[in-house]
Amino acid sequence: MQLWQGRFKKSLSKTTNDFNSSISFDSRMYRQDIAGSIAHATMLGETGIIKKSQADNIVRGLKDILGDIEAGKLTFDPDCEDIHTFIEGELTKRIGDDGKRLHTARSRNDQVAVDIRLYLRGETDILIKLLEKLVCVISDKALEYYDTVMPGYTHLQRAQPITFGHHLLAYGEMFMRDIARLRDCKKRMNQNPLGSCALAGTTYPIDRFMTSELLGFDAPTSNSLDGVSDRDFCMELAGDLSIVMVHLSRFSEEMIMWCSWEFKFAELDDAFSTGSSIMPQKKNPDIAELVRGKSGRVFGDTMALLTAMKGIALAYNKDMQEDKEAVFDAVDSVKMCLTAFTPMLATMTVLKNKMRSAAAGGFINATDCADYLTKKGVPFRDAYKATGALVARCIDLGTDLEGLPLEEYQAVHPVFDEGVYEAINLEKCVADRTSYGGPAPENVRIQAENLKIRVKENQL
Ligand code: ARG
Repeated sequence: MQLWQGRFKKSLSKTTNDFNSSISFDSRMYRQDIAGSIAHATMLGETGIIKKSQADNIVRGLKDILGDIEAGKLTFDPDCEDIHTFIEGELTKRIGDDGKRLHTARSRNDQVAVDIRLYLRGETDILIKLLEKLVCVISDKALEYYDTVMPGYTHLQRAQPITFGHHLLAYGEMFMRDIARLRDCKKRMNQNPLGSCALAGTTYPIDRFMTSELLGFDAPTSNSLDGVSDRDFCMELAGDLSIVMVHLSRFSEEMIMWCSWEFKFAELDDAFSTGSSIMPQKKNPDIAELVRGKSGRVFGDTMALLTAMKGIALAYNKDMQEDKEAVFDAVDSVKMCLTAFTPMLATMTVLKNKMRSAAAGGFINATDCADYLTKKGVPFRDAYKATGALVARCIDLGTDLEGLPLEEYQAVHPVFDEGVYEAINLEKCVADRTSYGGPAPENVRIQAENLKIRVKENQL
């Protein structure tokens, strides 16, 4: 069914109608479409553009339609062009001529813009909640492992000792920024385009502030052309979600490494692992891999939105119908990933001893050895060079800095004494890293507790 009868002598062919139609993917916005129409009809009644009794009939009819859809008594007609057409048609079917008055001073161009904003506003709230849950799990885990020593890496080479709690809190910061970005995105999303009409506003005495208030928008949009042609909030949301996926993907990649026999720092719960159809010994981190893999489609959704928007003249163009599948897919994918990822992290077993023994190899305390000399007055560059020579000597002798006799130290630099062994002790190396934001267990405990307060009190 098309709304634009009158001018045309023929109807669309079946294939063209299917190509043109968006009801298969925009019907998920039925609640928002009905809410927008109820607000519009109410405003039309209040301003006297239509009679109060007519507005009341429309509102009643729309509420009935909503009830019937929710109860499964009314199904969407796949031959309709879109959800807006379907609901307006159904309304007129039910209440007759009053239904035909609903579209006074409105266009599908501002209608669809309202619907997407309302829909994504709700989804953004759900996404924020899911991220907050993840941050809480991260904070709990960081408290549990606040003093668990592990190797910190650069270039995937053992670099300096840190704590597992500290490593987890790094992800906590990333997800806090994601929450802040989503909250910020919501501010720009929560503006009301209704009343922009097709592109040029209207000659009717509409009240856009009234519909804004009825729909919980902060304000009406300021320019009618922009109101109907703006999809920044879709691109922005998909962009923000792409960054969420970068973070989830990096975290997944690390989990996958930690679960490998080469690392064995962690083990995923059986409920989040899968087996192989041929290799009986396998326990595969499929869920983490799938999260990592899904990052690609969310980036693709963002690129699809940017590309669809980049070359279209103002105002509405049908290209913009492509916004929905892309932004819905980004939202759905991230919701699914967060729903799977958070309990996977919560139930992950950490093999502390394996982390500790990995931290003990690879001369991870070499910087601390150089710092020991520096603290005794040796310039850092000289201390660095001396420690480099000691590492080379250890490699020749097949030992590590802890096992190297004092004479060897003194042969490289006379300032060394027995105190060096304490200075390069791993626990001490970590415990002394008390600089703000550093991995010392006491720091981590405080930061983990703070993180929980920040997320609860919304201090991003
Ligand atoms: N289904 C359309 C969309 O999603 C609704 C707006 C249609 N407006 C128009 N002038 N064709 O973008």
